[in-house]
Amino acid sequence: MSDRKKIRLSTLLARKSAGKKIVALTAYDYSMARLLDEAGVDLLLVGDSAAMVVHGFENTLPITMETMLDHTAAVSRGSKYAFVVADMPFMSYQASIEQAITNAGRFIKEAGAEAVKIEGGLEMVDTARAIVRAGIPVMAHIGLSFQRIHAQSGAKVQGRKDAGHAYLLESALALQEAGAFSIILELIQADVATEITSKLEIPTIGIGAGSECDGQILVTNDILGLYDKMQPKFVRQYANLGATIIDAAKAFGKDVRGGSYPDESETFSAK
Ligand code: KIV
Repeated sequence: MSDRKKIRLSTLLARKSAGKKIVALTAYDYSMARLLDEAGVDLLLVGDSAAMVVHGFENTLPITMETMLDHTAAVSRGSKYAFVVADMPFMSYQASIEQAITNAGRFIKEAGAEAVKIEGGLEMVDTARAIVRAGIPVMAHIGLSFQRIHAQSGAKVQGRKDAGHAYLLESALALQEAGAFSIILELIQADVATEITSKLEIPTIGIGAGSECDGQILVTNDILGLYDKMQPKFVRQYANLGATIIDAAKAFGKDVRGGSYPDESETFSAK
C-alpha cells in the first residue's frame, strides 16, 4: 500500500521551509492528469496555455471561462494526489472584484479546482486579496504575462532594467501580503528571481526564471514534444511523443490500407 499523501496547500507551503522543490506541470485533460498524477507531480496547473497548445490559437487571450471550466473539471477528475490550480482566463477577473470572486468561485464549485491563478503585479493586489478573503487560495503570476502580451510588447525577459526589477520585487511582496500562497515567476532574469525567492515566505515557482526558485513549472506539451510552434530556451524536452504519434498513425494507416486491420481476434462473429 502506498503511503503517498494528497498534496494540500499546507504541503506546498511546508516545502519552502524544508528546502524541497515543488514539481509542477500543466494539464488540460483527464488522461494526461492521471498520468502526471501517477508520476508524482505535486501541482497541476490547468493553464490558459490550453488556448495555444490544445486549441491552436496564436496566444492565450481568446480562451473562455466555459472552456477553462471544462478543462479544469477533467483535470480534477484525473488527479488524485496533485494540487489542482485553475488559471483564470483573460477578462474573467480584470473587470471588477465582484467578477473576479464570482469566476474564481466557479472554478472551485463547478470544476473541483483547489486554487486559482491570476496574472499581474501590483495592479492585481486588491483582486488577489478579495479572492483570498472569499476563502479561495490564489497563486499569483508575475514577469512575462501572456494575458498582457500587447501591453508588454511581446514575450521579453522581465526585470532587466532597474525599474522592472523594483516593480517585480514590490509586486511579489505585495501579493504575498495580500494572501497569495505562491507566485509563478515567468521569464525573469535569474538573479532577480533568486532575490524575490529569498525575500518571500511563500514558494516561488519558476518558468524561465533560473534554478533558485522553490519549484519549477513547464508546459507539458512542450516537454513531451507535442507542440513545436514555440521552443523557448528554458524548455527541456523529455520525450518526443509527436514523432511517436505520427509513427503510430502511419502504422495504423498501413494496416488499414493493406487489409491487415482488423484481424480475426479484433472482430466479433456469430457465436
Ligand atoms: O498557462 C500556462 O500554462 C501558464 C504557465 C506558463 C505558468 O501560465
